[in-house]
Amino acid sequence: ELCHNKTQQFRHRIVRAFEKAMVESVNESQANHYNVDYKPVFGDSFEEQYYPSTCLVMEAGVRVLRRKDAPFNKLPFGRLFPRQKLFRNVKDIKTCAIVSSAGSLAGSKLGRFIDTHDIVMRFNHAPTQGHEVDVGSKTTIRVVNSQVVTKPEFDFTRAPIFRNVTIAAWDPGKYNGTLEDWLTSADYDLFTNYELYRRRYPKSRAFLIDPHSVWRLWQSLQMFAGNRPISRNPPSSGFIGLALLLPHCPQVDFVEYVPSTRLNGRCHYYSKEMNSACTFGSWHPLAAEKLMALDMNMAEDDDMSVFQFGILRIRRPDKL
Ligand code: C5P
Repeated sequence: ELCHNKTQQFRHRIVRAFEKAMVESVNESQANHYNVDYKPVFGDSFEEQYYPSTCLVMEAGVRVLRRKDAPFNKLPFGRLFPRQKLFRNVKDIKTCAIVSSAGSLAGSKLGRFIDTHDIVMRFNHAPTQGHEVDVGSKTTIRVVNSQVVTKPEFDFTRAPIFRNVTIAAWDPGKYNGTLEDWLTSADYDLFTNYELYRRRYPKSRAFLIDPHSVWRLWQSLQMFAGNRPISRNPPSSGFIGLALLLPHCPQVDFVEYVPSTRLNGRCHYYSKEMNSACTFGSWHPLAAEKLMALDMNMAEDDDMSVFQFGILRIRRPDKL
C-alpha cells in the first residue's frame, strides 16, 4: 500500500520541485530592485526553529489603508478611501474560498464547491464567465496588482469584471520606503486610476493594500524559510490575498494554489499559455509561499484533499 500510494508520491515530487524552484529563483533574481536589506535572525535552540505558519502570516498584519492612516489623514488623496470596512458583517463569515488562477483549475469541476463559501476571492482579471463549472460564478473580492490597475488593456476603471466587487489593489513600493515615497515610487502608478475609479463609483469598496504590510508578509515568509534565502521580490497576489483574508475568516479553502495531480503546465485556467514558472515561480518567492501554505494545511484527510481535489484548508488560529 505504502509503496503504491500515488498521492504520497505526487506530494514528494511537488515538494521537491518547490524546494528546487526556491533555490533557482534566488539564483536568477540576484537584482535587489526593492532594496531589501533584511538580515535573517536564526533561532539558537532547536525548539525555537518552528513557529506555526498561520501565526506568522497573521502577524504580518496584511491590511488595507484607512483614512485615519498617516500620511493619508492629512492628504486629499486619503479622502478617496472608503469609509466602510473591507468586509461587511464579519461576524457572519464562516468559510472563504480563494481561487488561484492556476491552469490546473481547468477541468476541476470545483465551481459548485467554490460558490458555497461565504466569501470568494479572485485575482486580477481572472474571469468566471465561461468557466463557471470549474471556478464558480460568485466573486466577493478581487486582489489586483498595480499592472492590472494601470495597463490600458485591462480597462480597470470601466471593465465590468471590476465592478460590484470589493477591490484590494497593491503595489510593493520599496522595502524601506515611507508611504510618502510610495506615492511617487510605485512600480506602476496605480493612484491615478484608483482615483478615477473611486470618483466614478463613490459607493464602491475599493481599497489600497498597505505596502508596508506586504513587506511584513515577505519577512514572515523568509522566517518560515529559515536559513534558505527567498527571492527579494514581493509575494504573489495569491499569497497577499491569503494574508489579507485570514484575519476575517475562520476557515479558508485555497483552491489549486498547491497544485493537484491535474497539474498541466498551463499558466492560467483562462488562457492557453504554457508556462510552469507561473506555478513554481521565478520572480515572486512563489515556491516558498506554496511550501508555507502546505505547512498550514489542516484538511482532515491531509494530502488527499490537496493533491487529489486541489483544496488546501487553512484554519485561523484562535488567539495570537
Ligand atoms: O497570474 P496572476 O497573478 O493573475 O494569478 C493570481 C495568483 O494565482 C498568483 O498571484 C498566484 O498566487 C496564483 N497562481 C498560481 N499558479 C498559477 C497561476 C497563478 O498559484 N499557475
